[in-house]
Amino acid sequence: MALAINEVIRIGGGLAVIDHAAVVETLALPVGGIVVHIDVEMMAAAKSRLDAAARRLLRTLLGALRKVLDQRVRPREEESLVPVLRPTDLVRGASVRTEHLQYLGGPVRLGNGAAPDYKVISDFHIHRRTSSRSGSHRSWSGGRGSSVGGERPEFRESVVAILPSRATATGTGPMIRAVTEPSSFLVTPEDLRRHGRRTVDWVADYLTSLESYPVLATTVPGEIAAMLPRSPPELPEPFEAVLADLDRIVLPGTTHWQSPGFFGFFPANASPPAILGELVTAGLGVNGMGWATSPACTEIETVMLDWLVELLGLPARFRSESRGGGVIQDSASSATLCALLAARERAINAGAVLTDLCVYTSAEAHSSVQKGARVAGFSPARVHLIAVDEAFGMDLAALESAVQVDREAGLVPCCVVATAGTTSSMAFDPVRAIGELCRAEQAWLHVDAAMAGSAAICPELRSQHDGLELADSYAFNPHKWLLTNFDCDCLYLADRASLIDALSITPEYLRNDASESGLVLDYRDWQVPLGRRFRALKLWFVLRCYGAEGLRRHVREHVRLSRHLEGLVVADPRFELCAPPALNLTCFRHVGGDDVSERLLAELNATGRVFLSHTRLAGHYVIRCCIGGTWTTERHVAMLWELIDELAPAP
Ligand SMILES: Cc1ncc(COP(=O)(O)O)c(C=O)c1O
Repeated sequence: MALAINEVIRIGGGLAVIDHAAVVETLALPVGGIVVHIDVEMMAAAKSRLDAAARRLLRTLLGALRKVLDQRVRPREEESLVPVLRPTDLVRGASVRTEHLQYLGGPVRLGNGAAPDYKVISDFHIHRRTSSRSGSHRSWSGGRGSSVGGERPEFRESVVAILPSRATATGTGPMIRAVTEPSSFLVTPEDLRRHGRRTVDWVADYLTSLESYPVLATTVPGEIAAMLPRSPPELPEPFEAVLADLDRIVLPGTTHWQSPGFFGFFPANASPPAILGELVTAGLGVNGMGWATSPACTEIETVMLDWLVELLGLPARFRSESRGGGVIQDSASSATLCALLAARERAINAGAVLTDLCVYTSAEAHSSVQKGARVAGFSPARVHLIAVDEAFGMDLAALESAVQVDREAGLVPCCVVATAGTTSSMAFDPVRAIGELCRAEQAWLHVDAAMAGSAAICPELRSQHDGLELADSYAFNPHKWLLTNFDCDCLYLADRASLIDALSITPEYLRNDASESGLVLDYRDWQVPLGRRFRALKLWFVLRCYGAEGLRRHVREHVRLSRHLEGLVVADPRFELCAPPALNLTCFRHVGGDDVSERLLAELNATGRVFLSHTRLAGHYVIRCCIGGTWTTERHVAMLWELIDELAPAP
């Protein structure tokens, strides 16, 4: 009789590994505490070859499972849960494949005279939605995986075997070896070396096979949670089991942002150098809250942000050797919050009262502006969403008039948040004119260029910078379009004093000579949290591994592909553009109206080959196509257009 094993198992007295894909002639496991999920479909296939003993075993296992599940329904009932199975009981199984093996739970009181140190299942997994079965397996799935979104998902059935925990580990044959003593919970750097290689391989394999996954996760709410045990593991699990669950649990529930078919929202592009930079960041594990807590973290960040001033052609007043400087935030939302806090600080220091302070942003600005204003304590009634013009940029006349009305009411214009590249349509507010108004009003100007900012790596794509020298602060996200994985936002200040005044608090335990010398930057005072990750490393890796020219190529190619797509849209009578073409975003709709556009988008996304998102512009439902993924090429844009062409109805 053969038993094919393709997983790792844990045993009560420690851990055991069964080599992947190993086939053992007999599973005479003299080890204990094993919980084995056996694929019943496989069992059924093999049933005809089962001998009488194996059939008895199967019946016993099924009985055991039902009792265990009954226990889950009535957890207080400590009745006889599982029959005692001797390891050799499994020997007679026909060719069955263990699909999932996991140790779960602690000792319980067993019937049948069993010793109390037997381990028993305390949770179970029934995973992998396959066919539409119902009825008979209902009583099986009384556990956590049973109810999802009000509906009972159909799961493949499993049976569970439980083996004694105190058996001795001898004579196990070549496929089984103990890898951890019960007393040893240390995971060593050597373990990291070994597992690290496999993990990097896993990531590389994933990136290589991106196109084989449906871009948008198709899981139903609760489905992934149902695959996880209810309780955390009591004993260490083998790394192989953890890695295996990436394929089994994580990938099915992942929307593949790195897929070349991802055209939704704005991208969050990762790249191999950035991934490796993150790895080193995790390995160093520093908290760069102040210069003294890790000088390299602070100084590399300062230099990277200065490099970017040069690479993007930003105003020199954003450089660190001026009164200003740059700092990495987790997101554009945090950058906007910091800008609002600095603006508030400056206004209050100038004698204004918080309740009088007004904030202005366009009706097309990102919602993070309103959120930031709320967090910073501005009165919601003083936050004005200014109307936009036909190109969705802020209407200057409307801004001027709002400021005038506030002034006349004795209020104080405190901050304007302008957008260079709005989320819905990549519209640009008139930064120069807004900046001049802010100067006249002594109001702070923050420019949010979360997405579009990266484009400035190409000198020909810098028109958005017109007037930027008038800005008090500016932010963009390398994590959107500069090959640096999430999270990485660069916030620049023309004068850092107001932000530091707003956020610096120095308790005794943070005092140090370096900070007191005034010779160093302490970035903890430039952000809301105290602790900070070494994010500059990934930026450093990216800038060095691609070089400015590599980054320019990346951006230029996406802009070229976007113009190409836009040409196809314009030439097709079924569609119309909904916003002026800009950088890497194309906004279009079906001339048949909102319902047709919405249906088309749903059908496109349902193919699993692409994902696009939508917005509303001038009241219309609009399909957005943003080309910015690391791996997106002409071929993928051609594939997208083929799908659009095929699925869109005639006008
Ligand atoms: C213009 C703009 N600002 C801010 C944000 C928020 O970005 P984050 O997720 O970095 O906070 C976005 C997100 O897409 C954006 O498009």
